[in-house]
Amino acid sequence: KELSFKQRLLDANKEAARYYYYQMMNDPKKKAITYLEKRGIDEINRKKFGLGYANFFRDDTYKYLRSKGFTDQELFEAGLTAKDKTKQESYYDRFFDRLMFPIFDVHNRVIGFGGRVLGDNNPKYLNTGETKLFDKSRNLYGMNIARMARNKKLIIVEGYMDVIALHQAGFTTAVASLGTAFTTGHASLIRRYAEEVVIAYDTDDAGINATLRAIPILKKAGISVRVLSVEGAKDPDEYIEKFGAKGFADLIERAEPSFMYEIRQLEKTHNLKDPEGRTNFDYALAKKILTLENEIEIENYLDAVVDKYNIKRSAMESLLGKIGKNIG
Ligand code: GTP
Ligand code: MN
Ligand code: MN
Ligand code: MN
Ligand code: MN
Repeated sequence: KELSFKQRLLDANKEAARYYYYQMMNDPKKKAITYLEKRGIDEINRKKFGLGYANFFRDDTYKYLRSKGFTDQELFEAGLTAKDKTKQESYYDRFFDRLMFPIFDVHNRVIGFGGRVLGDNNPKYLNTGETKLFDKSRNLYGMNIARMARNKKLIIVEGYMDVIALHQAGFTTAVASLGTAFTTGHASLIRRYAEEVVIAYDTDDAGINATLRAIPILKKAGISVRVLSVEGAKDPDEYIEKFGAKGFADLIERAEPSFMYEIRQLEKTHNLKDPEGRTNFDYALAKKILTLENEIEIENYLDAVVDKYNIKRSAMESLLGKIGKNIG
C-alpha cells in the first residue's frame, strides 16, 4: 500500500516536471528561456536537466494535475501544493513564477524541485520540503548524470546553477548538496560511485566553513578529498563564465589535498609574525597532524608542513611526541 502511494507521488512529480517544461516552452513572454539564455545555459542542457517554468498563475498546475487524476492529498504530500490557511481544504501551487529545477534521484526519478526567482526577490530559491520521496540529506543534485561518467572523480558544488554550468563546460561529474549541510548520507551515496572528490564551494565564509565541515565527513567514509579554490569569482558558475572551461580545468589540476587546505585555514586564524601566535599555530598544527590515520601519512604531511612553514623538523617531532603522549 505504502509503496503504491510512493509511486503516485513519483508520478505526480513527473507529470509536474512535464507541465513546467510545457509552461516554459509556451510562455508568451519566454521569461524562463530568456533568463537561461542570459545566464548562458543552452538548449541541450535545458533539456538534459529538464528545466521548466512555473508560471504566474497560482492554481493552474494544481488544476492540471487534478485533471490528470491526482488527489489533493497526493499533490500536497508530493510537495507540489500548499494549503490556504484561511480556507479549509483549499490548495494552491507551491511554485509560481519561478525557474524550475527537477531534482532527480539516481534512478532518474523526479523526487522534488528547486525553484529560482527570475529577479532579485526573496527567497531566491524555494525547494521542496521533506516528503516521503525527498530526503535532502541523502540526495545530491546531478548525481543521476554524474554517476554515468567514466571518470569517477566527483566535483561537489553548492548550487543548481554551478552543476549545470559545469556539466555544460564538460565537467559531467559535478553534483550539489543544495545549500544544505553536507551529511554522512551524502558521503555514503558518493562512496557508491566514487573514491575521490574535489570540493568547489563558493568563495564566501559560508562556503569555507561548509568545506571545513564536509572534509571530515567525506574522509570518514574513506573518500579522498581535494579542495579547489575558486579564485576571482564567487562560485564555479561565475568562474566559468569569466574564465572558461580551460580555466576551471586548471583549478582542478591545482586543487590541494584537504589536509593542506585545512591547515591553510588554520593559518588564517593565527598571527604567525607574533611569537605567541606562532607557538599556538605550531601546537594546533601538531594536533592536526596527529589526527592523521597512519604513520606514512604523518611522515608525508610532516615533510610538507615543516617545509611550507619553515619549522625545524626535530622541533615539530618532539612537539608531536609530547602532545601524542598526552592524547594517547
Ligand atoms: P545563483 O544566484 O542562481 O547563481 O544561485 P547560487 O547557486 O549561486 O546561489 P547561492 O550560492 O546563494 O546558494 C547555493 C545554493 O543554496 C542554491 O543553489 C540553493 O540550492 C541554496 N539556496 C540559496 N538560496 C536559498 C534560499 O533562499 N532558500 C533555500 N531553501 N535554498 C537556497
Ligand atoms: Mn502556476
Ligand atoms: Mn553561497
Ligand atoms: Mn553561489
Ligand atoms: Mn551562482
